[in-house]
Amino acid sequence: MEGSAKQIWYEEMHRAVAELLSGLTDPIAAMASCAAVLHERIPNASWTGFYRVVEPGLLRVGPYQGPVGCLEIPFESGVCGAAARSGRSLVVDDVHAFPGHIACDPRARSEVVVPVTDGKGSLRAVLDIDSHLPAAFDEADRLGLERIAELLSPCFKAARAR
Ligand code: SME
Repeated sequence: MEGSAKQIWYEEMHRAVAELLSGLTDPIAAMASCAAVLHERIPNASWTGFYRVVEPGLLRVGPYQGPVGCLEIPFESGVCGAAARSGRSLVVDDVHAFPGHIACDPRARSEVVVPVTDGKGSLRAVLDIDSHLPAAFDEADRLGLERIAELLSPCFKAARAR
């Protein structure tokens, strides 16, 4: 997809998620709905979902679509851990070249991971999207997904997603 077409496509997906999450204060329901929309719409997504921060330095799987994912990921491990540790999004073209990548699905080749905060700077989860294709995600995906991840922040203000 061309850059500008992708931007418009993300705008539309942002609207769809915003509408679905409007008034929701339950983070699990919000993450589940968001994962469903993204997984259905993003071409070549093999796994779409969330890992929640359940204690300092530890992620545990949350709502997702796709094959069975790892249950827990310490901040020291994998792409999700690296994104959680730094609080920054990561686009990985080739997961096999990423030190410490966790191979939940041996077919995974690329991924994008975006932090989800409570809007006040506290990390609450990461959004992880994997693909069986190499370099399936780019900067436009990162930006679009970061904007969508912001839609979840109000839900995390109201409750803790445990
Ligand atoms: N690819 C992730 C692990 C989680 S899953 O693949 C569902 C990582 O290295 O962080």
